[in-house]
Amino acid sequence: MATAAAQHTARTPAHDARGGAPDTDAHQRAFDAAIAADERIEPRDWMPDAYRATLIRQIAQHAHSEIIGMQPEANWITRAPSLRRKAILMAKVQDEAGHGLYLYSAAETLGVSRDELLDKLHSGRQKYSSIFNYPTLTWADVGAIGWLVDGAAITNQVPLCRCSYGPYARAMVRICKEESFHQRQGYELLLALSRGTPEQHAMAQDAVNRWWWPSLMMFGPPDDESEHSAQSMAWKIKRHSNDELRQRFVDICVPQAESLGLTLPDPDLKWNEERGHYDFGPIDWDEFWQVIKGNGPCNEQRMAQRRRAHDEGAWVREAAAAYAAKHTHDKEARRG
Ligand SMILES: [Fe+2]
Ligand SMILES: [Fe+2]
Repeated sequence: MATAAAQHTARTPAHDARGGAPDTDAHQRAFDAAIAADERIEPRDWMPDAYRATLIRQIAQHAHSEIIGMQPEANWITRAPSLRRKAILMAKVQDEAGHGLYLYSAAETLGVSRDELLDKLHSGRQKYSSIFNYPTLTWADVGAIGWLVDGAAITNQVPLCRCSYGPYARAMVRICKEESFHQRQGYELLLALSRGTPEQHAMAQDAVNRWWWPSLMMFGPPDDESEHSAQSMAWKIKRHSNDELRQRFVDICVPQAESLGLTLPDPDLKWNEERGHYDFGPIDWDEFWQVIKGNGPCNEQRMAQRRRAHDEGAWVREAAAAYAAKHTHDKEARRG
């Protein structure tokens, strides 16, 4: 496409006629025009440093959440109640590892290495979603996570398929398809429990009671307290505000809870005819900040397990690097 080629030239770093410093103003204008026209920014395009830093922070945090998120559910793989349930859960947990891989790769296109990002996670300099610091106490938690946590993730991530940064947007398209399978398997699991014995129904209800509020916190702090929101919206990294997405999620969940025969643990939840949305009760933001600060029920356990998995996987990384080096060497020898 001729226009795309021309735009690429204007947005790719270049030097001015005297061979001096890059013409940042022209690049900034080309970048702004691309954002305004809803075009994608690609890895080789010029971009403001703050845009790059914001994306690295967000994509890294997202990647970390995918791989830490494997832990609470992996806890139940050996105790799944049937072969069918076990196969589903294993596929789901493996998908989450794959999501981590797509996202670390997307982050690498911005000029950081995966090692650097993992190092930041392990040393606590980068975060992951606080939802994964809650424990999975019963089998029903696997259902509640699929329905609510993956459901909230989809609500957050579908708009990210239109994010202005190309590699992140494209990774999201595939991730969202897999997330919708995760959400469905959770819903179906809860439905089976809800229609089962009174004990099974109670177990499903208890899991929903514990996961509902933390799921609402997954959308992040209220809009007026969200420090990065406005800039991310202007850059079209984000398309909707935290509160808007949270409301959308509540509106989706209420009828689904009714079909499941389960109740959501919020006495203030009711349809507001005027707003055309469900009203819901206040969120305990103190709890949210406490968990973010490291004081959630499982923060230490999750990080210890992550560091252990990384150390125990060192031989795999070394073997892969040695194999790649040998392969390159053999190829060069054949050529030479
Ligand atoms: Fe995922
Ligand atoms: Fe998922």
